[in-house]
Amino acid sequence: MKQDLNFFEAVSQRRSVRVFDQTDNFDGTIVQKCLEAAILSPNSSNLQLYQFVRVPEYSPLKDRLAQLCMGQKAATTARELVLVLTRRDRWKAHAKANFDFISASASGEGDKKVKLALRYYGKLVPMLYQKFPGWSVAKKLIAITQGLRKPMVREVSETAVRISVHKSASLASMTFMLGMKAAGYDTCPMEGFDSKRVKKLLNLPAGSEIAMIIACGKGMPEGIYGERFRVPTSELIVVK
Ligand SMILES: Cc1cc2nc3c(=O)[nH]c(=O)nc-3n(C[C@H](O)[C@H](O)[C@H](O)COP(=O)(O)O)c2cc1C
Repeated sequence: MKQDLNFFEAVSQRRSVRVFDQTDNFDGTIVQKCLEAAILSPNSSNLQLYQFVRVPEYSPLKDRLAQLCMGQKAATTARELVLVLTRRDRWKAHAKANFDFISASASGEGDKKVKLALRYYGKLVPMLYQKFPGWSVAKKLIAITQGLRKPMVREVSETAVRISVHKSASLASMTFMLGMKAAGYDTCPMEGFDSKRVKKLLNLPAGSEIAMIIACGKGMPEGIYGERFRVPTSELIVVK
């Protein structure tokens, strides 16, 4: 049996691969396993506001979806496409799920953890995630005013919340792709797709956004388009 790669091997060997092997006996259970690992990724407030949608090659939607990925070879040759959706719309249900979990695991009525959870998931999270006209500007003003007296989180606008949700979805995506590499498969994350048409084709929830679509399969050597390039490390890692 083939040994999984260790973490640093998976990181260094992972490449975005644009042509996948059509003859390989692709094992979809590995995709499921890597998605389940991805769910363990850190995410903002543990709200888990994302969802993976699997479109295997046998799905009647796969070919049409690949065409909506601008016909990219990574998509047309993929053995499975995984959509990473943001689900900002699920905040209320997931805040409640967190709150209920913490309450159930608490030792007693006056447990400090429960009080904090109640405040966090019952007050702060709704403050940030609820939506009504003018609230985004109001939140920014509150942050600016409070920030005059003490350190304050400034990223509270509707745009900031949207970015935060995409951050968590992207972290989960990365865990998935590293898992796939460790297990012997390759991936290509894509943002080159027609989001409007994809949402319609797959009947995706109106409140969702597509963070990326990940092509999966066993990579062909010609699927790596060039030598790996990165700008100098000194530019990307600074110490203060
Ligand atoms: C958010 C995101 C979107 C991307 N979109 C595409 C895409 O649409 N098509 C594509 O061929 N590669 C896409 N890529 C892959 C990048 O081009 C690739 O990661 C980069 O060139 C570095 O190469 P490497 O992944 O092989 O290290 C995307 C990567 C990310 C993270």
